[in-house]
Amino acid sequence: MTIIVTGGAGFIGSNFLYYYTNKYPDRRVVCIDKLTYAGNFDTIAPLTAQENFRFYKTDLCDRDAIFEIFEAEKPDAVVNFAAESHVDRSIEDPAVFLHTNILGVQTLMDACRTFGNVRFHQISTDEVYGDLPLDRPELVFSESSPLRTSSPYSASKAGADLLVLAYHRTFGLPVTVSRCSNNYGRFQFPEKLIPLMTIRALADKPLPVYGTGLNVRDWIHVDDHCRAVDAILEKGTVGEIYNVGGRCEVRNIDVVKTICAVLGKPESLITFVSDRKGHDLRYAINAEKLETGLGWAPQTDFNTGLTQTVRWYADHPQWWPPLLSR
Ligand SMILES: NC(=O)c1ccc[n+]([C@@H]2O[C@H](COP(=O)([O-])OP(=O)(O)OC[C@H]3O[C@@H](n4cnc5c(N)ncnc54)[C@H](O)[C@@H]3O)[C@@H](O)[C@H]2O)c1
Repeated sequence: MTIIVTGGAGFIGSNFLYYYTNKYPDRRVVCIDKLTYAGNFDTIAPLTAQENFRFYKTDLCDRDAIFEIFEAEKPDAVVNFAAESHVDRSIEDPAVFLHTNILGVQTLMDACRTFGNVRFHQISTDEVYGDLPLDRPELVFSESSPLRTSSPYSASKAGADLLVLAYHRTFGLPVTVSRCSNNYGRFQFPEKLIPLMTIRALADKPLPVYGTGLNVRDWIHVDDHCRAVDAILEKGTVGEIYNVGGRCEVRNIDVVKTICAVLGKPESLITFVSDRKGHDLRYAINAEKLETGLGWAPQTDFNTGLTQTVRWYADHPQWWPPLLSR
């Protein structure tokens, strides 16, 4: 069995590579990553010592190169983590998001069609559903919630989801899609909330929180996300979408206060800054289909997982400084 994992030098992809190579030591794992500013080869360098692991520094949109890799590696399955993933950057410059997140997915699926109707799994996001009001806690996103995107990032991911499902219907490509809520854990690029605030707090710098900090995110530990993707690959029904969420809604301001508490830093470091354009208020995921259908459940308690994560960044001061200059 050979699996291609794209975006494996990024946050979730690298955690998935460690999870997968550990769980399935007999399978061949091929990582494709362009190594954009968000990709960090050092994170996965230890894996290159394993005989069954192969790395290609390649752009998803480079059709010839992708087809060559498929021809050489003959994959049985592909999991696509590769994407431009930062909402703020998509507001600054949407074009690269449309290229990678939509046309890159098309290239991968064309390769899947050409080289034996290869099983394809698309990693998507709960952001395709837009947001929910803060004062209606009973509302949550199900797989049939309408797509109602807010940012160029989420619009590009929603476009890809539709394309993936269209390739299933039109060409019979065996696909699945998972839409996950906010991940946290080790190896996350320090532009995202938890590593950014942790690294700034460690340096006693101000902690800039958007708006009032009352926006709510549904957090899930990255290891729980990896187990969900594994369950979908092994037992999921092709043509289906699966929501993945931690049943863990927390306000941004409370995440930042917890980081201060874990590091023993004063909350007076927190400063409120102008809100992000189109900032989503609340995300909440109903993952019942995955829980009841495939027997998956999140295992990491948020306070324990967040404390471990904050300590991981504090204990790995060699990992993140090179990334700050990118
Ligand atoms: N981080 C989250 O909380 C979260 C939540 C839900 C879904 N997702 C989705 O999960 C996936 C991974 O997210 P992440 O947070 O690990 O992102 P990330 O930005 O940390 O990593 C993305 C990786 O993709 C690579 N990449 C980017 N463009 C590429 C291209 N054209 N060709 C090849 N490789 C390319 C980058 O080099 C990087 O290694 C994305 O699809 C994202 O939409 C993320």
